[in-house]
Amino acid sequence: MTVYQATASAPVNIACIKYWGKRDTKLILPTNSSLSVTLDQDHLRSTTTSRADPSFQKDRLWLNGVEEEIKDGGRLATCIKEMKALRKQLEEKDSSLPKISGFPVHISSRNNFPTAAGLASSASGFAALVASLSALYQLSTDASQLSLIARQGSGSACRSLFGGFVAWQMGERADGADSYAVEIAPREHWPDIHALICVVNDEKKGTSSTSGMQRTVETSPLLQHRIKHVVPERMAAISKAILARDFDTFARITMQDSNQFHAVALDTDPPIFYMNDVSRAIIALIVEYNRVAVANGGKLKAAYTYDAGPNAVIYAPKENIKEIVELIVKYFPQADKFKDPFELFGAAGVQGKVVEGFNEGVAKPYGVGAVKGLIHTRVGDGPRTLGAEEALLGSDGLPLKA
Ligand code: DP6
Repeated sequence: MTVYQATASAPVNIACIKYWGKRDTKLILPTNSSLSVTLDQDHLRSTTTSRADPSFQKDRLWLNGVEEEIKDGGRLATCIKEMKALRKQLEEKDSSLPKISGFPVHISSRNNFPTAAGLASSASGFAALVASLSALYQLSTDASQLSLIARQGSGSACRSLFGGFVAWQMGERADGADSYAVEIAPREHWPDIHALICVVNDEKKGTSSTSGMQRTVETSPLLQHRIKHVVPERMAAISKAILARDFDTFARITMQDSNQFHAVALDTDPPIFYMNDVSRAIIALIVEYNRVAVANGGKLKAAYTYDAGPNAVIYAPKENIKEIVELIVKYFPQADKFKDPFELFGAAGVQGKVVEGFNEGVAKPYGVGAVKGLIHTRVGDGPRTLGAEEALLGSDGLPLKA
């Protein structure tokens, strides 16, 4: 008997121009366009296996081995339904195709990074779900079309259907048909963009993106200014900077937009705080690091950005990452040895030091554990279809043990 099964992986993306606000909460249509860098799946990814089988009782999904409820009319159910509909269209056009669109599916998904790290997994998760169903159903649908469906799982997920530098065009239509992701440039255009993720210790449970952004839409006057007068210009300027490989402009806009996103969070009633003291100390370090570079006649060397939580993502050309790791470790000593995937450090390892001329008074040093991990990665490619040896479902159609 034929087994209808496919496995795919998808990347994480971190926005430079932030998506924050919906004009339609069911279809997930944003109040502004956004733009992100896709990170390398060699380091951070979600992997998903989907199987269609007439003997299954119903659609089921497991995340890291734990079954998640697929609620009627919910985001997961919508994505699965839309993908089945695309398959059905194919089957109707070509009667020789096996009619698998009517079969229930089992879906098993895993992240290769700990959920506890506080890294957004919904973007890579929904992108991997859509990519694996697309492979299962042998759709020839292009990535922008698939992004329309991933968008309905989680807005930011639509940008994980592409590698490199990706824009989510907000669109205007009420049905959302023009609200999808497009590639601004592939990773090969600017492979020198690296990222250092600083995983900041956070005990309390923050406000979710979904509910936080809705409250901002309802109460923040600053958001209206941002939507109308700030984001359109920034989208054009940062796209141009990416095409010109102009890091200085890219960095300036990325930091400004992170700041404004956190400003509209603060402008929300009641206010929302995503950054903490450690997040702000990292900002101070990057600002001073850039100040020294500019004082020496150079340009900006790094850009920070923060999503709906305290973790910092620092974008920089590869040649600067070593100095940045030294800088962060000086103020935030690490319990674990720096995992050095690009082999920047020799046997001596990371010392913890600042560049010449750096004003050490801009932040106070913290103890071990304030920044509980550092992940060095870079711009990466889009979803990958994987072989059967990577499958996450056993022959019984249930998730394999990790
Ligand atoms: C701050 O995509 O998680 O990371 O559409 O409600 O699922 P939903 O929200 P989500 O929001 C991401 C917000 C952000 C900025 C960004 O990624 O652009």
